Amino acid sequence: MNKTEKVQVAKVDTTSGEYEFHVLDGTLGPSVIDISSLYGDTGQFTYDPGFTSTASCESKITYIDGEKGILLYRGYPIDQLAEQSNFIETAYLLLNGELPSLNDYEEFERAITNHTMVHEQLRNFYYGFRSDAHPMAIMCGVVGALSAFYHDSTDINDPYQRMVAGRRLIAKMPTIAAMAFKFSLGQPFVYPDNELDYTANFLNMCFALPALKHKVSPTLARALDKIFILHADHEQNASTSTVRLASSSGANPFAAIAAGIACLWGPAHGGANEAALNMLMEIGTADKIPEFIKRAKDKNDPFRLMGFGHRVYKNYDPRAKVMQQTCHEVLAELGIKDDPLLEVALELEKIALNDDYFVEKQLYPNIDFYSGITLKAMGFPTTMFTALFALARTVGWVAQWNEMIEDPSQRIGRPRQLYTGYAERTYKKRSER
Ligand code: SDX
Repeated sequence: MNKTEKVQVAKVDTTSGEYEFHVLDGTLGPSVIDISSLYGDTGQFTYDPGFTSTASCESKITYIDGEKGILLYRGYPIDQLAEQSNFIETAYLLLNGELPSLNDYEEFERAITNHTMVHEQLRNFYYGFRSDAHPMAIMCGVVGALSAFYHDSTDINDPYQRMVAGRRLIAKMPTIAAMAFKFSLGQPFVYPDNELDYTANFLNMCFALPALKHKVSPTLARALDKIFILHADHEQNASTSTVRLASSSGANPFAAIAAGIACLWGPAHGGANEAALNMLMEIGTADKIPEFIKRAKDKNDPFRLMGFGHRVYKNYDPRAKVMQQTCHEVLAELGIKDDPLLEVALELEKIALNDDYFVEKQLYPNIDFYSGITLKAMGFPTTMFTALFALARTVGWVAQWNEMIEDPSQRIGRPRQLYTGYAERTYKKRSER
């Protein structure tokens, strides 16, 4: 961390006067005031519910400029990676910090391909679920159970074991997600096919049938690969912070990633893609949009426009732009001319972006607004949308997990609180109450 010479006096309202704290400058974005000594110096905590003004760590992986709508993976703009790279190469970049040479790329791709199968007994976990179990419930359970199968890669202090665990997780998530999808359909699981690349293999495991030779569309595989790139990492979002916090206790990587999956499932986070599509289906036709816009603005109505708004982006989410283009590509490839959901989404976006409420609160479409239409057109049910998000985000979680463990300044995460409960009081017998 570059401790600058500049020292900023932070005015802390305490009886013992003013205190000086170092200001740390990063490469891009806001500088930070290092307040790690605040409690020791003043006996006071900071208070920041939702961490709107708190940097939890130093990171070199992903940079977001919310005002300008910029997203960089290790310095590369997301639209350049989406257009020119692929998910496996982007995974290598996020994990290692540099784009791979041809040899490194081939070695990494081969390693991932050779880890795609899961232990045969893991299949039994699926049969313990009801057939209508939500795929994310299955993903939470099955990914957490991986630590019962891969003891040889759970020592987080061994860089080699961390590398093996990370590659296993990245390689097996498509297999685990596809198995959850097949289980929900009552169809047999499809084994990975090492002749196919990462994303084509996933589509094959989802849509191939014993009775039907399945040919994966290269256009759809490319489109989904782009979607995985868009979802791969996103700074210290809720699920990534969950993975970091779970790992800070020394928990094994499989358990930590399972915790991230659980957090991602929430409709305010990764579950928004499922909620956004369900909302578009509920709206149904463009003439119903004003009624939903009205509800979204009504403080007494818990309804929110799903797929809109973001804690960081106060401009258009750069991923949403690529997502919208990909949506058009997929619909064209599938020969879907006038998708009613896309019509509603485009009209809803147009109306919202010209409505004072959304303009004033800087609410723009986020990555989840168009992803659902695309994934539904590809044949995925809404319940699989967040599982696909988790599949892609596993790369970011693994990269951030490794960075945290290698950071000498990181310790177990243990926030404090503002206590407003009872002061000490004496227990009374039930007969005396
Ligand atoms: C993801 O963090 C990440 O990076 C996440 C993510 C990633 O890649 O990891 O980008 C993925 O989670 C994208 C976000 C997906 N979620 C949704 O689309 C759900 C709908 N969006 C909202 O729930 C909300 O915008 C959040 C949760 C995304 C952000 O919430 P914040 O930052 O806590 O903002 P807020 O709730 O304080 O909202 C600020 C104001 C409020 O009004 P006031 O109380 O100030 O009057 O804007 C309003 C909110 O009511 N508002 C909305 C709204 N989002 C915010 N009003 C209507 N519809 C919305 N969608």
